Amino acid sequence: MTKVLGILGTSNKFGITAQMLQAVLAGAKSDGCDVEMICLADYPLEMNPSKEHNQILDQLHHKMLASECLIFATPTYWKDVSGLMKQFLDCMRSRMVRFGKKDGEMLPDLYAKKKYILLTNCYTKTLENCVTGVTDSTFIVMDRVCTTAGMELVGEAVTTNTFAMKELPDWKHAECVNLGKKIQISIEKRDFTVKRYIQLFFMLAFSTLITMGIQSLIENWLPITGFWGNYVTFVLIFFILLSVVLHYFSVKNINATNYK
Ligand SMILES: Cc1cc2nc3c(=O)[nH]c(=O)nc-3n(C[C@H](O)[C@H](O)[C@H](O)COP(=O)(O)O)c2cc1C
Repeated sequence: MTKVLGILGTSNKFGITAQMLQAVLAGAKSDGCDVEMICLADYPLEMNPSKEHNQILDQLHHKMLASECLIFATPTYWKDVSGLMKQFLDCMRSRMVRFGKKDGEMLPDLYAKKKYILLTNCYTKTLENCVTGVTDSTFIVMDRVCTTAGMELVGEAVTTNTFAMKELPDWKHAECVNLGKKIQISIEKRDFTVKRYIQLFFMLAFSTLITMGIQSLIENWLPITGFWGNYVTFVLIFFILLSVVLHYFSVKNINATNYK
């Protein structure tokens, strides 16, 4: 079962950030994922931790490692992530990436290929946010960490105009639920890649066999023979056959995806 971990970067457990995170987790859960939410305010996060605090960071690291998808949720503070989220990402650096051979080079390690989702919100109105990119700078910080760790983005969501907002609007709630539903699909797509190569191999083997069979049946009626005759008929027959096979598989896949 796909494990999804929501990481709340604010002490406001009932605020808009928390509601967005819960909606994404609800979407993932409705798709059969095993979901968990942690609130960073419940953990002591120190850059030079004592032995006891180091164990707590290790516990968080193991929770993250056990999850296929991590959701980072933070309010936008001063065009940036919250101090709590920043402190967490700083503390996790040595666990999320490894050092390369060049000085200070950071490379993907244990978190490579994990999926991630980013959530934030701000007082700024939607249009102003589009122009000034208030939440863009929040995302850039979290994105930098996740991409350095080799993780893959599933999606992101922003709620703007949150001043005096107590509850996430229904349409934004629905958007977050849909984002949560993307998690399982994006993980299945990755598993699908190996299947695709196997399918491709058999498609090629099958089309080549049929093409060579047809060629041997019609070789006596061909106007051109020899190398170029074989080449032209092979390309034409193979192209028609492969188009039919590919069309069949892509239509089947589109129907399967729509059904989901
Ligand atoms: C310290 C602080 C800094 C903030 N900075 C910004 C900002 O730069 N731009 C903005 O639009 N909103 C800013 N806000 C508003 C928060 O983004 C807003 O309160 C957020 O929606 C709170 O989320 P919550 O309900 O999860 O607590 C700031 C709020 C605080 C407390």
